[in-house]
Amino acid sequence: MFDLNTLQRLLPVRYRDRMDEAVEILTLLKEIQDPRVLLSLGPSGLRGLIWKRGKQGVPTKVQASHSAHFDFTYPADQPDMQTLYQRAKQGQWDADMLPWQTSVDPENPEVPLIPDNFIGWDELQAAGIRLTETEKRRLLHSVTAWMLSQFLHGEQGALFAAAQVTEAVQFFDGKLYGATQVMDEGRHVEVFHRYLTQKLGKLYQVNDNLFVIIDALMADGRWDLKFLGMQIMVEGLALGAFGVVYKLTKEPLLKQLLKMVIQDEARHVHYGVLALRSHIRNELTEREKNEREDWALEVALLMRNRFMAYEVFEEWGEGKMSREQWRHMVSHAPGMIQFRQVMFSRLVPNLREIGLMSPRILPRYEEAGLLKYMTGLSADQLSGEDLVRSLDVAS
Ligand SMILES: [Fe+2]
Ligand SMILES: [Fe+2]
Repeated sequence: MFDLNTLQRLLPVRYRDRMDEAVEILTLLKEIQDPRVLLSLGPSGLRGLIWKRGKQGVPTKVQASHSAHFDFTYPADQPDMQTLYQRAKQGQWDADMLPWQTSVDPENPEVPLIPDNFIGWDELQAAGIRLTETEKRRLLHSVTAWMLSQFLHGEQGALFAAAQVTEAVQFFDGKLYGATQVMDEGRHVEVFHRYLTQKLGKLYQVNDNLFVIIDALMADGRWDLKFLGMQIMVEGLALGAFGVVYKLTKEPLLKQLLKMVIQDEARHVHYGVLALRSHIRNELTEREKNEREDWALEVALLMRNRFMAYEVFEEWGEGKMSREQWRHMVSHAPGMIQFRQVMFSRLVPNLREIGLMSPRILPRYEEAGLLKYMTGLSADQLSGEDLVRSLDVAS
């Protein structure tokens, strides 16, 4: 019988890596069980994974298809969103107030950006990659820059998504709140870009999987899917990811920057919960609800399983170890395991709260090892200040 693995082993490394990538894409498509989800993610998958639109080094256009919702009666329709709007106005800050004068040496072992255990050193060595101490520091520098670059690209997506949902949403109080989020996301783009270019001196291209998600929710005309994709999924996962790096980094400027961003993001996810909770629970048909539930799960798995830092592999490992060996190393490094798991601690409780965790889908979350986060606090129960306090206690 035709055996892909045997064929792969016979190929020269470079072709083997290309084939590994193709097999990974096919597996990903095969995992999507709901045909409607495939239809909604498929074209973005083509643009991101096959054509690699995010990596062409030229501006990319994504066609938007939503309707702008006007209301000339200006109703005071959502008191919770009004409160959030007041809090957001008072919580504005200027990126210039961060201590940019801090001198950052990304390779200083006394002030590590992230802990050593984000890399499986033994596995690298077993694959024949022997690194000096300085090279090890440099690799950790690359991994940090890669993570923060993905944060930055996610923030660009969040900036445009916030602008889109401000137009599309039907709650007037939501539109006013949305205006503050557009400003917040602009500031986040500013601080991550500034940190990467001025302090780390490195900027990685957008990860293909992240591009697929951003592309899909930019192009989808349904406002609630944009909300689900950006405010709950991307923002929720980012909030978890920011929290992990905030807790672990010893670099004071990065820590301070993340602390400020986390407090804004907590409001953004809170807004997503407020906007979607009654809509999903009360206004969608069972079929529509199931589609969103499946979509959320696929996007969650796309983010969890596929964030393998291949952009760092292309720089450090390509030609020296196989893409498959790299993936194994990244999937098993304790720091990376923790990173991926904690990302979900901020997402799963919100999916539960908005009604996308029915008994129908729970076994698949269980299979993915994500059910343990089911009982956590959702964004409407946890302010940004509480969140930072809980991270400080745990560190
Ligand atoms: Fe943001
Ligand atoms: Fe955000």
